[in-house]
Amino acid sequence: MIKTISTIPDLRAQINAWRSQKQVALVPTMGNLHAGHLSIVERALSAADRVVVSIFVNPLQFGVGEDYQTYPRTFEADCEKLEKVGTHLLFTPSVTELYPAGMEATTYVTVPKLSDILCGASRPGHFKGVATVVNILLNIVQPDKALFGEKDYQQLTIIKRMVADLFMPIEIIGVPTVREADGLAMSSRNQYLNAEQRAIAPTLFQTIDNMRIKIESGEHNYTSLENQAMQTLAETGFKPDYVAVRQAHTLDMPTTAADEDLVILAAAWLGRARLIDNRVVAK
Ligand code: PAJ
Repeated sequence: MIKTISTIPDLRAQINAWRSQKQVALVPTMGNLHAGHLSIVERALSAADRVVVSIFVNPLQFGVGEDYQTYPRTFEADCEKLEKVGTHLLFTPSVTELYPAGMEATTYVTVPKLSDILCGASRPGHFKGVATVVNILLNIVQPDKALFGEKDYQQLTIIKRMVADLFMPIEIIGVPTVREADGLAMSSRNQYLNAEQRAIAPTLFQTIDNMRIKIESGEHNYTSLENQAMQTLAETGFKPDYVAVRQAHTLDMPTTAADEDLVILAAAWLGRARLIDNRVVAK
């Protein structure tokens, strides 16, 4: 049985007992764990002596009409997977444990600008919810390191910014995206796809990967590449939200500087699933 704690005082007692001699890493999740999550846990196990995984479906980061109620909750299976990889502690707080003042009255953490673009533009308040809960979890656990997937590239960028701006003494580690054999990035929301949608879903990855190859071979007309990709996605059956070439560290628009690090980000609806993906461009 994996050691599981649901209250903050019990959690803190355990972490404090470890802290004097051990490096502690935190892996925040919303559960429904797949190989992408487990690869983060495995990386955490090699980066620290003790690994805490949190499972908390955070109501604050879901918008009105989004899938908070129906988000897949698979606690038993998650426990088994976490135990198998060697997780030391599972933290499963309730909503009132993390938001004792209530979600309307609680203190928010907002990372401006970065939270309003790309996914933030179509999901208002989403990244405020993410930054707030990650800040709360980091303050409760006080880990030496916290690990997040590169799959949610904008989320990772926002968390790095928050931790830097608030001078939080925590190392943030990004872990590469784990994909299905056909390239589709693993995601809990892939379960929302029917067989027909699942068959076309890898087009999202292929489309941005083709952009990556073109940019790496010298194509600089990013707007034209973005427009072509939007069209390809629409023709394949997606409802594309955005395809964007951005500076890799700031998510600002690219300049004409030749040595700039770039990332391609995309989001598109397929049926009732909103899929996201990204590719970093090699220089
Ligand atoms: P969740 O979607 O459960 O993801 C938990 C972590 O797993 C995140 O850091 C995410 O980027 C990472 N992840 C998801 N799919 C991945 C994949 N295919 N490969 C590698 N990593 C992957 O992201 C959240 O939860 C929440 O917003 C959270 C940070 C927990 C705050 O509530």
